[in-house]
Amino acid sequence: MILRLPPLSLYVHLPWCVAKCPYCDFNSHALNGELPEARYIDALLADLEVDLPRVWGRTVHSVFLGGGTPSLFSGQAIDRLLTGLRARLNLAPGAEITMEANPGTVEHDRFEAYREAGVNRISLGVQSFDDRQLKTLGRIHGGEEAMRAIEAVQGAGFERFNLDLMWALPGQTTEQALADLEQALAFEPTHLSHYQLTLEPNTLFAARPPALPDEDTVIDMQDACAERLLAAGLEHYEISAWAGPGQASRHNLNYWRFGDYLGIGAGAHGKLTLPAEQQVLRTRRKSHPRPYLKAPETRDFIAEARPVPEAELPFEYFLNRFRLDEPVPLADFEAFTGLSSQTIEAALQRALELELIELDPVCDPLESGSRAHQRIVRTERGQRFLNDLQALFLDSA
Ligand SMILES: C[S@@+](CC[C@H](N)C(=O)[O-])C[C@H]1O[C@@H](n2cnc3c(N)ncnc32)[C@H](O)[C@@H]1O
Ligand code: SF4
Repeated sequence: MILRLPPLSLYVHLPWCVAKCPYCDFNSHALNGELPEARYIDALLADLEVDLPRVWGRTVHSVFLGGGTPSLFSGQAIDRLLTGLRARLNLAPGAEITMEANPGTVEHDRFEAYREAGVNRISLGVQSFDDRQLKTLGRIHGGEEAMRAIEAVQGAGFERFNLDLMWALPGQTTEQALADLEQALAFEPTHLSHYQLTLEPNTLFAARPPALPDEDTVIDMQDACAERLLAAGLEHYEISAWAGPGQASRHNLNYWRFGDYLGIGAGAHGKLTLPAEQQVLRTRRKSHPRPYLKAPETRDFIAEARPVPEAELPFEYFLNRFRLDEPVPLADFEAFTGLSSQTIEAALQRALELELIELDPVCDPLESGSRAHQRIVRTERGQRFLNDLQALFLDSA
């Protein structure tokens, strides 16, 4: 089987925040002292050069500046970063360039400077508009400030923007979750990420858990919010992601479709297909900003580069792919893992028996003699028991 190259994206991690939020397990670090802006951009560009030979001649279709809080960086710094990326990479014309921003870090003219630098999509971490909730969540901004930040994004001319909201917050009722949603929808975002608050290990919330809504309230909240989002004309295209028609995040879609991505910056993860080696390679950069900033001297940015063992490829593929609400052509599975769909026949059979999936009825496997012409359609049951469905593909190769 020949491995085919999927589309390529670039993720850039900017690891500092004003303060660490008690629920957050991202590789983010409270900024003590001055932001080493210029040194970090230098490090990122040197870091990119390490990976360039692995992606020679390929086009990059999207860039995502994530964090941490990228909006701590000035417009000038982001301009230098994007200019440096363009000089080294073949960036597709009209490529989606997203930047995450925290409403507590953006003076008003910053968004204009980001746009002039080439950013064409903003993802704003609102979380809630309720001041009491924002305080519990350890956020550095209030609801009013979040609204001013959204207006600034719109005022700067960003046609595409995402708002992050969290729900099932401590003590939250369905009415309160809906009120947050209503406020967000009033700004007509092209994309809304609606994350259920989870208690992640090694966070302050895990050590001292707040009282979260009970299971019945969570289900009620989820249903009511989904109904409201659908009524607003947004499509539910991934577990937590909602978008207007044609407004899905192209960058995140590429992750979930098992696309390739370069990952640069402290702690960034990457995934690259290497057809000559018949390998899918996973890379991870040094996590802590301090050693990462020292790396340009030694060009030693990488903490780990590991080919994914064949036996793990089906699980990795479907872990991503089944998050999306779209059929999965088995031909894609074969092309992007390099495995025959025969290797997952037992898992497919089990998933069919459990009614977690259906195979696209337009293609009859007996006629074609191969599953490669079929598409897997996740059933509603498959969506509800997603973890069970994904687990069927563990060690199936
Ligand atoms: C990197 S942050 C976004 C930008 C910026 N750092 C901020 O918080 O404003 C990514 C998003 O993940 C979500 N998130 C982080 N930790 C979470 C958790 N434990 N449960 C649910 N959502 C979480 C939040 O909505 C957050 O905005
Ligand atoms: S601002 Fe964002 S990245 Fe930073 S700690 Fe809070 S949620 Fe995490």
